[in-house]
Amino acid sequence: MGYESIDVTPMTPRIGAEVAGITLANPLSNRQVEELHQALAEHQVLFFRDQPMDVDAHKRFGRYFGELHIHPSTPGPEGHPEILPIHADANSRRINGEYWHSDVSCDEEPPAASILYLHTVPPVGGDTLFASQYAAYEALSPRMQRYLEGLTATHSGDHVYRRNNALMGLKETGKVYPQASHPVVRTHPVTGRKALYVNGDFTTHIDGLPREEGRAVLDFLCEFATREEFQVRFRWRPHSVAFWDNRCVQHQALWDYYPQTRSGRRVTIKGDKPY
Ligand code: SIN
Repeated sequence: MGYESIDVTPMTPRIGAEVAGITLANPLSNRQVEELHQALAEHQVLFFRDQPMDVDAHKRFGRYFGELHIHPSTPGPEGHPEILPIHADANSRRINGEYWHSDVSCDEEPPAASILYLHTVPPVGGDTLFASQYAAYEALSPRMQRYLEGLTATHSGDHVYRRNNALMGLKETGKVYPQASHPVVRTHPVTGRKALYVNGDFTTHIDGLPREEGRAVLDFLCEFATREEFQVRFRWRPHSVAFWDNRCVQHQALWDYYPQTRSGRRVTIKGDKPY
């Protein structure tokens, strides 16, 4: 596809493109926003280099793509509830996104997309992996695709956020975290393509299947969905940005840089009920 207002360079045949020729911290033209929408639909995750931006510019950039989401477990700092700080250093006992997942898939209406900006990165390490869930679905046999048709799975935030809070030494508050049932194969509302929509972090079980069968199918799907051939791997530099579509991408942050510091923030864009 041709672009007039941005330069788009694919990083793999299936997923990921680097975008240049745009300054995200500036107000954007309608053409730029429209072409970023197109590029995201085409490549599923977009990467940008050298994009220093403050909190307000980050939120403004996010709002070009929809209303901003507030995280159910970690609302942002005073005055900026839509900001999710992403930070790890020598004192950290966990990081965000260490297991393959689609952001907050436990929400009834899970986020459509996320925009992560890192200002500080370790000299090496701290890459993020992204896997195309279109590519994973399309690589399944037609027989397996038929088997999955109409199945739903339960996604729960409870074990995820309680584990994180415990690791951070936070007191148990009795807070109830979201849980929702979503199709195992969802249809992307923009592209109409089918994508696998289960992940190893939030998805607890496939609804309505005998326990052992459901476990085996879910384990197979989670392993299959994150195979190397469906992936792109992003090597961060200071002030890089990654913008991914949670409706067709899973991601995982690697914590191979301890005790170095990796720091920035994410805004997340609200989505619709998967179908
Ligand atoms: C996340 O949003 O899951 C964190 C990703 C990252 O830090 O690379």
